[in-house]
Amino acid sequence: MAFSVYVTRAIPEAGIEAMRKVGLDVDVSPHDRVLTKKELLRELKKKPYDALVSLLTDTIDADILDAIPNVKIIANYAVGFNNIAIDEAKKRKIVVTNTPDVLSHTVAEHTMALIFSIAHRIVEGDRLMRSGTFPGWEPMMLLGTDLHQKTIGVLGLGRIGSRVLYQAMRGFDMKGIYYDIKRNEEIEKELGVIFKATPEEVLREADVVSLHVPLLPSTKHLINSERLSMMKPSAYLVNTSRGPVIDEKALVRALKDGVIKGAALDVFEEEPKLAPGLARLSNVILTPHIASATEETRNRMAEMVAENVIAISQGKMAPNIAQ
Ligand code: GLV
Ligand code: GLV
Repeated sequence: MAFSVYVTRAIPEAGIEAMRKVGLDVDVSPHDRVLTKKELLRELKKKPYDALVSLLTDTIDADILDAIPNVKIIANYAVGFNNIAIDEAKKRKIVVTNTPDVLSHTVAEHTMALIFSIAHRIVEGDRLMRSGTFPGWEPMMLLGTDLHQKTIGVLGLGRIGSRVLYQAMRGFDMKGIYYDIKRNEEIEKELGVIFKATPEEVLREADVVSLHVPLLPSTKHLINSERLSMMKPSAYLVNTSRGPVIDEKALVRALKDGVIKGAALDVFEEEPKLAPGLARLSNVILTPHIASATEETRNRMAEMVAENVIAISQGKMAPNIAQ
């Protein structure tokens, strides 16, 4: 019997084709939406699937894992894999893979776009133009904030965080500081970025704080009201990592009270919902979890998912074990 794969929602065809081309039996969910747990369990009972391709919107918990005793690999179409009970998967000897690296430049570009848009008030300006109330040039209209020579502070110096620093420091003449549980002296030397021993030091000194940590129990609400109050009142907070890293209700209060100047967010604590009041604030920019959503990157992510599944189907090591 052919090695069978269940894909929880249509991903770019490049990935599906690559798996079918080598003879894998690929079923894609017929619904182009997130499946409920009940629906997913029902779908997974249709065949003794050998592989599962999941999305970051699928919660793969112990119940799901118990329903797929034949599955050897769960290939997550995302760099983050906080949606998968990874220890439970390990216990069952299921390989979990993700899609690192290929999206780092893209997510970093989106992060820079958010930083520029909030500092230069691009979205507010766009809104004003569309409202038909542009009075003509004014000396003091929509004054923004310069970024060159300001300090960007990165929390989480992985591939994405490093790339953001590279773009901000090399491209836009910003100064860089970072905190990570692991110090990276190579990047410090290459970019001249300065390591801070605690996240608090980064929060106190940075003009722009950008979050690039994975979502773990230790990073949930890393940014809470206490830490927000350590930031400069002139500072911006940017998040393209995972929503729950910020206490979103506390952020709404901080933005309302002028504790910080603004925020630009691509991810939210309870997607697709927003914390009450967030959407009414003018000092915030919101994008719908699209930081990796370019054609090139999403195609490459789909191909990567396929490479991992194909490797396991051929008894080889998967190239992108989630870690
Ligand atoms: C997107 O959020 C990802 O983890 O790939
Ligand atoms: C993601 O790839 C990261 O390491 O930041």
